[in-house]
Amino acid sequence: MLIADRYEFYGKSYVGGMARVLPCKDTVLERDVAIKIMPGSANRRRVLDEISALLKMRSKHVVQVYDILKIKVDDLAIEVDDLAIVQEFIDGKDLFDDALVPGSAAEYLKMVWQIASGISDIHALDVIHRDIKPNNMKMDPEGLIKIFDFGLARDEGISAATVGFIGTRGFAAPELYQHDAKFTAAVDVFAFGSSALYIGLRDLPGELLCQPPIALAENYFAKLPFALAGEVADVLNSCLDMDPGKRPLMKNVRDVLAKHLLFDRHKALVVFNGKASYLDSNNRTVNLRLPSMGEVGISYDGFSFLIQRQSGDVFVNNRRAVVGEKLPGACVVALGAPEKTNLRRYITFDLSHPEIVL
Ligand SMILES: Nc1ncnc2c1ncn2[C@@H]1O[C@H](COP(=O)(O)OP(=O)(O)O)[C@@H](O)[C@H]1O
Ligand SMILES: [Mg+2]
Repeated sequence: MLIADRYEFYGKSYVGGMARVLPCKDTVLERDVAIKIMPGSANRRRVLDEISALLKMRSKHVVQVYDILKIKVDDLAIEVDDLAIVQEFIDGKDLFDDALVPGSAAEYLKMVWQIASGISDIHALDVIHRDIKPNNMKMDPEGLIKIFDFGLARDEGISAATVGFIGTRGFAAPELYQHDAKFTAAVDVFAFGSSALYIGLRDLPGELLCQPPIALAENYFAKLPFALAGEVADVLNSCLDMDPGKRPLMKNVRDVLAKHLLFDRHKALVVFNGKASYLDSNNRTVNLRLPSMGEVGISYDGFSFLIQRQSGDVFVNNRRAVVGEKLPGACVVALGAPEKTNLRRYITFDLSHPEIVL
């Protein structure tokens, strides 16, 4: 059967909490799509505004919305008042599935970084997802995680009575349980924290299962089956702060996770006196000296390149070097005081920016 003269419905539909999702083949572009039918939402301004924002989004970690349809399909009981969202089809399991348990801290970091990136991209468009949880994320056959199921229709008439409607126990932030709850992007940050904990522990602690959730007795991210860096465990734990104002921005969480994913993967080129050398995880320090002028040691700690030691006159981009300072991505280090003019010598430093490879 063809929907909108174009989408061939095959197989069987998924029936979720409020929506029906139909796997279809787009016969024009010959690709698989998932058409989500949202009953009765076609005339809600906010839903439409939000979908138009999502239509503009291009994120590797968010299901792409291709089109919106308002058509009646008698055979499938689709009414004109229903909104049908045509989305990219993701073939794969959702993250609630036990088959997708991370086996190491590195695998775990890759997973939570992808989720954090997707949510940051959503927030960058001023959209709040509202129903972040492992069931609403899938991993495709290439290992890419994509987020779907925007809580588009769940924003109206919020009150304690409807909380079951706008959130999911264990993932809904405490402020969603308040009367007249006003929510911000911080609800997604909380739900991300719960999801990250679930993905690591395959369970949620009792504090999060209370309704509303209560403050965590300890940092559970420090007790996952694999060891996370302290900074990673702390930033993830801060997502679960009971006070929405104290939760970090999603992009800051993403950046901390990226920093740890890139640990020991940088490479810098250092050129002095016509001689080039590389600094990386195999070769962590270099010492350069200009007799009677100055001497500098640069070292790589896995995250940054730092001035490890210096003596005499050493300048980084014309400012006197300070031991412990981080070198910018590209800079010139001068040995010798400025008044020494043509007796000074220069070191050029260039960092090649590594990418996260999934
Ligand atoms: N883009 C998609 N690609 C593949 N399957 C999807 C897609 N979107 C949703 N589904 C499937 O349909 C189910 C219900 O969709 P969802 O958007 O989560 O709606 P609900 O609000 O009912 O939970 C999902 O759990 C998932 O199995
Ligand atoms: Mg869902």
